[in-house]
Amino acid sequence: MLDFSRLAAGQLTLRLSPVDLAGLVQDTAEQMRPRAVRQGINLQNTIKAPFPPVEADVDRLKQVLVNLVDNALKFTLAGGRIIVALERLGQNLALKVCDTGVGIDPQELPLVTQRFYRGRQAPSSGSGLGLALWEEIIGLHGGRLEIASQPGQGTTVTILLPVR
Ligand SMILES: Nc1ncnc2c1ncn2[C@@H]1O[C@H](COP(=O)(O)OP(=O)(O)O)[C@@H](O)[C@H]1O
Ligand SMILES: [Mg+2]
Repeated sequence: MLDFSRLAAGQLTLRLSPVDLAGLVQDTAEQMRPRAVRQGINLQNTIKAPFPPVEADVDRLKQVLVNLVDNALKFTLAGGRIIVALERLGQNLALKVCDTGVGIDPQELPLVTQRFYRGRQAPSSGSGLGLALWEEIIGLHGGRLEIASQPGQGTTVTILLPVR
């Protein structure tokens, strides 16, 4: 069954283990780098310090990360920049994917995490399911997903996850 059907049926369960979020983000960035290069986008990974592990479902967390970077790549033009950063905020790790892309209109912002919502700028490739699913998966981890955006300037998606 697809994650989304499971979630709708209340059957989405996590397989938790201690996860090195910094390493996972770095791997994801390297995996996506060839596409960024092809698109002429500067993908910067600013993560340095070691961070404490988070208790997470590593496969689903990886899906979330890939899709956040996928969104950033979809909505950023050649010559743009994507930064992935990680910081500790109290009892949370905050992962940020920040792009210099087309941004999201303020009136659209509350809608983008709704199921099947796709923005007017969205290329035909998407399903509009991503953010709705990722937000719920992060919620199941006891964390939350926040989106800030300036139309024409870019978008920052932040994922907060409690440290173990
Ligand atoms: N980084 C981003 N920059 C601009 N708009 C975005 C970004 N990420 C998401 N969006 C907007 O949110 C909508 C929903 O995103 P998502 O659920 O991932 O759907 P999809 O990727 O299938 O279009 C997108 O169609 C787009 O309008
Ligand atoms: Mg998407």
